[in-house]
Amino acid sequence: MFYGPSGVGKTETAHFINDLLGGELMRKQFSMFHSENFASYLFGGRHSESSFARDLLDRESGVILIDEFDKAAAVFHSAFYQFFDGGVFEDKNYRVDVGRSLIICTSNYGSDREIRDALGDALYSRFDALIPFQPLSADEVRTVINQLVDRRMRELDDDEQAVLDALDIKERLEPLVQNAANVRRLGKVTSEVISMMLVESLLADNATDLNGKEMSTEEGGE
Ligand SMILES: Nc1ncnc2c1ncn2[C@@H]1O[C@H](COP(=O)(O)OP(=O)(O)OP(=O)(O)O)[C@@H](O)[C@H]1O
Ligand SMILES: [Mg+2]
Repeated sequence: MFYGPSGVGKTETAHFINDLLGGELMRKQFSMFHSENFASYLFGGRHSESSFARDLLDRESGVILIDEFDKAAAVFHSAFYQFFDGGVFEDKNYRVDVGRSLIICTSNYGSDREIRDALGDALYSRFDALIPFQPLSADEVRTVINQLVDRRMRELDDDEQAVLDALDIKERLEPLVQNAANVRRLGKVTSEVISMMLVESLLADNATDLNGKEMSTEEGGE
C-alpha cells in the first residue's frame, strides 16, 4: 500500500516498477466506478460485462495496480481478503490465481493508523508493506523539472532545439518549485513554456525578415 498526499509520485512509482519488469501495467482506478457498476465489476455480472477477474486473466504484467484504493466503499473490501492472502480472486463466473504477482494499492491516507481505521484490521493486516510517500521538497521538484525539460527537449526537431536554451526554460519554471502541489501541472506548464519560446523565436525571425524586406524596398526605391 502506497499512501500519502496527492501528486507525490505514488502512481508514477507503480508505473516505474512495472517498467522495470516489463509488460503493460494492469491499472484499475477505483475512483472511476460508481457503486452499482462496481458491484458487478468486482463480484461478477453477466458474462458480457467487464469484470475485475476477467481483467486479471487478460493482464500482461506481473504488477497489478489498484489505484485510489481508498475511494472504494467499505462494502467492497471483503472482495480482497482472499486475493491479498493467496493471490486468488473469485467472482460469480471466474476463479483466477494470479501466481507470483506484485499488487500495489495507492491511497491518500495520511498515516498507518488512518489506514487501519478506514480499512479495518482484517484488510489492514493483509498488506505486506505500508509505504508512506512524503510531499516533495523544493530540490526534488527541481529534479523533476530538470528531467522533464531535458526529455521534452530531446523530443524536438534539431532546428527547434537550436533556438531554445534548456537553462532558460528551467529558470522560467523556477517559481513552480515553491509549491510542491504544482508537480502535477509541471508537464503541462513545461510544454506551454517551450511552445511559447518557440513561437517567440519564430516571431522574432519574421520581424527580422520583415525589417530586412523593408530595408531592401527602401533601397530599391532610391
Ligand atoms: N517523484 C516524482 N518524480 C517524477 N515525477 C513526479 C514525481 N512525483 C510526481 N511526479 C509528477 O506528478 C504527476 C503526478 O504524480 P502521481 O500521479 O504519481 O501522483 P499520486 O501520488 O499518484 O497522486 P494521487 O494521490 O492524486 O493519485 C506525475 O505524472 C509526474 O509527472
Ligand atoms: Mg495516483
